[in-house]
Amino acid sequence: MPALPQTMTAIGIAAPGGPDVLKPETRPVPQPGPGEILVAVAAAGINRPDVFQRRGGYNPPPGASDIPGLEFAGTVAARGPDATRFASGEAVCGLVAGGGYAEYAVVHESNALPVPKGLSLVEAGAVPETYFTVWSNVFQRGRLQAGESFLVHGGSSGIGTTAIQLAKAFGATVLATAGSAEKCRACRDLGADHAIDYRSEDFVAAAKAATGGSGVNLILDMVGGDYIDRNYEAAADQGRIVQIAFLNGPKASANFSRLMLKRLTHTGSTLRPRTVAEKAAIAAELHEKVWPLLEAGRCKPQVHATFPLAEAAQAHRLMESSTHIGKIVLTV
Ligand SMILES: NC(=O)c1ccc[n+]([C@@H]2O[C@H](COP(=O)([O-])OP(=O)(O)OC[C@H]3O[C@@H](n4cnc5c(N)ncnc54)[C@H](OP(=O)(O)O)[C@@H]3O)[C@@H](O)[C@H]2O)c1
Repeated sequence: MPALPQTMTAIGIAAPGGPDVLKPETRPVPQPGPGEILVAVAAAGINRPDVFQRRGGYNPPPGASDIPGLEFAGTVAARGPDATRFASGEAVCGLVAGGGYAEYAVVHESNALPVPKGLSLVEAGAVPETYFTVWSNVFQRGRLQAGESFLVHGGSSGIGTTAIQLAKAFGATVLATAGSAEKCRACRDLGADHAIDYRSEDFVAAAKAATGGSGVNLILDMVGGDYIDRNYEAAADQGRIVQIAFLNGPKASANFSRLMLKRLTHTGSTLRPRTVAEKAAIAAELHEKVWPLLEAGRCKPQVHATFPLAEAAQAHRLMESSTHIGKIVLTV
């Protein structure tokens, strides 16, 4: 292995603000602690939470790097004490609470996974954040079963494109909402049985029509706002609604009697502040149940665009334009 440099290029957030506050900086190469590996990053996925962090509204949890970036793929450059799972030079992808937009990043070995066979490092760098999020919210919290109906809002997002493919692969009937005909087409191409252009169609009526009037069994929602009441209406008896974000706001007026009358469950979660052990448990299930699907080509990260690390601001501009379908990735 070549000797490690002392310093690296990373993207810092100069001050909360627009995309231009993302600037390349020289930082010390991080040192892997017990159980951790240092990864020479080849690709770092961008996620909407990075945009909220850049604007100053989503600070890293205590102990996490202030460098943005929740996921990456690359090769193992060094191993900390007791880190034995991966060999030096092995290709891995990792989930972190910060630090991905950099030439080197550390991750606990239990929160890293081998790059699925057949995936490039760029594709693998677009996997962890959405796959961990979808697995924990759709399959663990939401308990999606084969034969059930599943509705994901924001179907063309990084999260949505992952949720459509995994729900379909596990035998659900999949409905997705998206904001244009082109995005709806992309959702159908990924396996959605019904794609609803929410700008021209009422998603509640469309979801009822697609389920023979009974409503959907599970809804994954990132929109919130007035969708809260409308999700209660679109849900089937004993339906589950899992909240992962509130793009249209966390406050709403809703008719809660439907919770009672339909025996609904409304829950939610965030991934980033969860412990290494909790993330390791999600990683283990993904490795067992989802990695074989990735390796068989039955699901695949949808990389819409790549940008060199130094052009992180440009990549954030694209994300905020919401014209992308799938993932945006920084290459190192
Ligand atoms: N809870 C968790 O653990 C967790 C983890 C990761 C991500 N998330 C959340 O999941 C969401 C998706 O993340 P991502 O990285 O996949 O995002 P993304 O690729 O940027 O996609 C977001 C999409 O949501 C749609 N959208 C609907 N209402 C919107 C609004 N008011 N503002 C902006 N976009 C809106 C847009 O498509 P249309 O054209 O269809 O409107 C947009 O393309 C984000 O809100 C993120 O914070 C939560």
